[in-house]
Amino acid sequence: MAIESTFVMVKPDGVQRGLVGEIISRFESKGLTLDRMRMLTIDDDLAFRHYAEHVDKPFFGELVAFITSGPVVAMEWSGESAVGVARTLMGTTNPAEAPPGTIRGDFGSIITQNIVHGSDSPTSAERELGLYFQDR
Ligand code: RTP
Ligand code: MG
Repeated sequence: MAIESTFVMVKPDGVQRGLVGEIISRFESKGLTLDRMRMLTIDDDLAFRHYAEHVDKPFFGELVAFITSGPVVAMEWSGESAVGVARTLMGTTNPAEAPPGTIRGDFGSIITQNIVHGSDSPTSAERELGLYFQDR
């Protein structure tokens, strides 16, 4: 058990659908602390760097097109086991399989538009936080 920081981002569909407040509320209610937040529209360069691990996947083009399609809300959250807690609140990657009570389970329908991103390890959290928050 350890205090961690993680990167969470409301994706373009979540912003478009007015889910920013709902998502922030769930993280706050769980006891995590919001440390940084900014709204931006991701360009191709940032999208490629963020999702570099997926560059060879068949869905990469679709992923970049979607993540650059409108404004996102980028956030740093901290707390006990924050990386895993955030992933639990989000639910599994495919909203069709995410249980009710999770963000993707309650609001998502298709895998390409799954509302929210969260880092999958403390190491990737540090890398992603550095991409979005140069003042860290
Ligand atoms: P994320 O990075 O966005 O938080 O999502 P994740 O960890 O749950 O899933 P990951 O494996 O990192 O995949 C990144 C995003 O790519 C899209 N995806 N599409 N068509 C497909 O089979 C497929 N697989 C993944 C999803 O939008 C996923 O969030
Ligand atoms: Mg991922």
